Amino acid sequence: MKLKLLIVGAGMYVCGRGTDGFGTVLPSLYEAYRCGLIERVDVIATRPASIQGLMEKNNRLNERMGFGFPVHGHSGADAYRRALKEIKPDCVIISVPDHLHARVAIQAANAGSHVLVVKPLAPTAKEAKEMIQAAQKNQVYGAVEFHKRFDDANLKIRDMFSQGKLGDLLYIVVNYSQRKIIPQQMFKDWSNKTNIFQYLGVHYADLIYFVTGAKPIRVMATGQKQWLTAKGIATHDAIQVVIEWSLGKKEFTSIIATNWIDPNTSSAMSDQKISLVGTKGRIDSDQKNRGVQIVTDENGIEDFNPYFSQLYTDTTGQTVFRGYGERSIHQFLRDVSNIKLGVQKPKDLRNFRPTFEQGLVSTAIIEAVGVSLKKNNVWVNVRG
Ligand SMILES: NC(=O)c1ccc[n+]([C@@H]2O[C@H](COP(=O)([O-])OP(=O)(O)OC[C@H]3O[C@@H](n4cnc5c(N)ncnc54)[C@H](O)[C@@H]3O)[C@@H](O)[C@H]2O)c1
Repeated sequence: MKLKLLIVGAGMYVCGRGTDGFGTVLPSLYEAYRCGLIERVDVIATRPASIQGLMEKNNRLNERMGFGFPVHGHSGADAYRRALKEIKPDCVIISVPDHLHARVAIQAANAGSHVLVVKPLAPTAKEAKEMIQAAQKNQVYGAVEFHKRFDDANLKIRDMFSQGKLGDLLYIVVNYSQRKIIPQQMFKDWSNKTNIFQYLGVHYADLIYFVTGAKPIRVMATGQKQWLTAKGIATHDAIQVVIEWSLGKKEFTSIIATNWIDPNTSSAMSDQKISLVGTKGRIDSDQKNRGVQIVTDENGIEDFNPYFSQLYTDTTGQTVFRGYGERSIHQFLRDVSNIKLGVQKPKDLRNFRPTFEQGLVSTAIIEAVGVSLKKNNVWVNVRG
């Protein structure tokens, strides 16, 4: 079934604003269009210049992919409300700053559209619950674009855990950071409205929940404000979070360290590693160094992740977009198509997808982390 799709937001994640690339959402839609899943796409941004930037990226993608793609742009802070009414999209992908997720998602659900929100679901459990209620009331499917659930390296971790090969899980350590350019340039308009745990740490909070099915009990967070504050950006450079998780009678602890002040000369935009230690085994997964290192006069040393979202020329000479980012968006569109065809219902997906209900878990963690930081690093219970 071909879908009418509305995208709210035309930034870095949608089309690679401010980068040489094309982002993740827009090129993924080319693949979905090629598979016959899309009828038309409308994109909303606040400023006309953002839509112009999106159209330029789209034209360049047209050339690379070798086929045209019907994208219509609209601008204005309120333009998404009009579009929901006039276009009546089958589904909406929301990629606006975090503090706006709930507002846009609830209106989309109330308009009867299925909704995919980029991570995090929302910054607070209250907003997340309102989103869940809006989706349930309108019988639409609501999901979070947690693409790390689609990375084969993480599926292996999940299998090892669920098959008991690690024994009883004792602790998990995550190290995740990005370059200074992210808070300083890319998101300078809203980096002080979020924090680095909410921006990066949430991916692994969700992944730990996805891998283990455990319930987060309480958190304790510490953070440092130095480099960014000196540049006039009022947010933490780095945040370290301890989370206690319960698996019925057993418990384990995770430690997630995040920063966004890595040098801009680092060998990859994202540096990310996870280790899980259990009574019968351990897994260490370097999710930055995937074994492909490139060195050029132009860009120096780069550790290249071939598995996230990339354009490639396939064996027939055709340009294709591949990776776990693409698979995550494709899965949402396929699910919406199946719901519209009556093959499945939103509630059938409850245990299998990053639904709004599942997104509440990592949102409750984010909120508790914010409280711990404000209250001198006290332990805070997670209330989902
Ligand atoms: N999953 C990931 O790996 C990943 C990566 C980057 C960003 N993100 C998430 O994507 C979201 C957006 O991030 P980005 O990097 O694209 O940011 P960005 O600052 O590049 O873009 C934000 C976009 O939101 C639009 N916008 C803001 N208010 C709006 C409104 N009222 N109506 C319509 N459009 C509005 C702006 O016009 C802009 O196009 C954030 O929630 C972020 O956490 C996810």
